[in-house]
Amino acid sequence: MSNASFNATAPSSDSIAEPEACAEQTRRTLLLGALATSACLGCSAPARAGEDPPGSDERPQKGDRLVFSEGDQEGKLITSADVPRGGPPVHAWPQDPTTSVVRSASRLNEILIIQLDPAELDEQTRARAVDGIIAYSAICSHAGCPVTAWVKSDVGDKEVFKCMCHNSEYDPRAGAQVVFGPAPRRLAALPLMLDDGSLSVAGNFVGKVGGAQPG
Ligand code: FES
Repeated sequence: MSNASFNATAPSSDSIAEPEACAEQTRRTLLLGALATSACLGCSAPARAGEDPPGSDERPQKGDRLVFSEGDQEGKLITSADVPRGGPPVHAWPQDPTTSVVRSASRLNEILIIQLDPAELDEQTRARAVDGIIAYSAICSHAGCPVTAWVKSDVGDKEVFKCMCHNSEYDPRAGAQVVFGPAPRRLAALPLMLDDGSLSVAGNFVGKVGGAQPG
């Protein structure tokens, strides 16, 4: 409908008499609105539609829980029983335990979780693990691609994390050190603990997260 046709049929506001009941309702509505506004002056602003909620782009923090980042169980809490021994790794996001905000607004927060025989882990890696379960950044240190594969290494007979962009390989038993390819440094490690049977974060990332050069 054009403005012209609307104006031709709609009465002007000057010509509309406000019934007493409506006027009283309007006064009450304004009063309630003012009270609600003053009561909420101390409230934190909620996320607007289309905006990421506060905390969703912050790095994982001590006490964060871990939830599936993909698949049928996306968003569900990860327990130790959800991580298959010997791989493949589970892909996860950290989740704020207080607000339940999943920290998925930054791709640098995606995590790989894998369970291995604790006897296979080097001392430092075992110290960050819980029951042989260890976690690393899922972002390749070469050019920042996601590390997606769990395959037999090109340089040994063990399975390793592999980034398919330029074939860098990382050994999760040894702090995700680089065993093949152009990656300049290991994946950042994320210390874990168990909290009521669910996996949670025991401390900040150890090491730098993200790629050293543009892809
Ligand atoms: S981005 Fe992973 S090997 Fe290049």
